[in-house]
Amino acid sequence: MKETISVLISKEEIHRAIQALARQIETEYEGKELHFICVLKGGVTFMVELAKAIRKNVYFHFMDVSSYGYGTESSGNLKILMDLDEPIAGKDVIIVEDIVDSGRTLKMLRDMLENRNPASLKIATLLDKPQRRVTEVPIDYCCFQIPDEFVVGFGLDYAQKYRNLDYVGVISFEEE
Ligand code: IMP
Ligand code: MG
Repeated sequence: MKETISVLISKEEIHRAIQALARQIETEYEGKELHFICVLKGGVTFMVELAKAIRKNVYFHFMDVSSYGYGTESSGNLKILMDLDEPIAGKDVIIVEDIVDSGRTLKMLRDMLENRNPASLKIATLLDKPQRRVTEVPIDYCCFQIPDEFVVGFGLDYAQKYRNLDYVGVISFEEE
């Protein structure tokens, strides 16, 4: 199968959206210490770009969870591949995700982290596919709502490929 990628959101559009979100977060977290939890691997590009745009200190934390294999459907099971290396109790935390699709991954992750008693827990995502939602999950910050298509780039992969594209594209498959 030949894989073709067409631009859905350009790097300029992503840059503008991240700058706007950074201004909003700066205002809302004034006087607070801000902790980002990056959900590996997809969330890494967005987390780094968002943190770079924020004009105050941001602490970085990483978790690796998985509800996907090599296909394009969420499994409904959350596997913790790598946990946080310090407690988040009493901290102001934002989970930074690449995309919310069915919402299953984030719902399970959010519930798990909420049990660790952070002072506040919010969710920021680069992309949201609202049409695909099967589980209610509160999204506090979102850069783009997109249609129900499989996308790659800016952290997002297909079979671990295309994460380093500097734009978001729709992938399509054709017989060779
Ligand atoms: P959910 O549990 O169905 O919301 O899926 C969440 C995870 O699936 C995301 O964090 C991504 O890693 C992956 N995912 C969902 N949709 C896409 C897509 O269009 N492209 C690449 N990965 C996706
Ligand atoms: Mg993800």
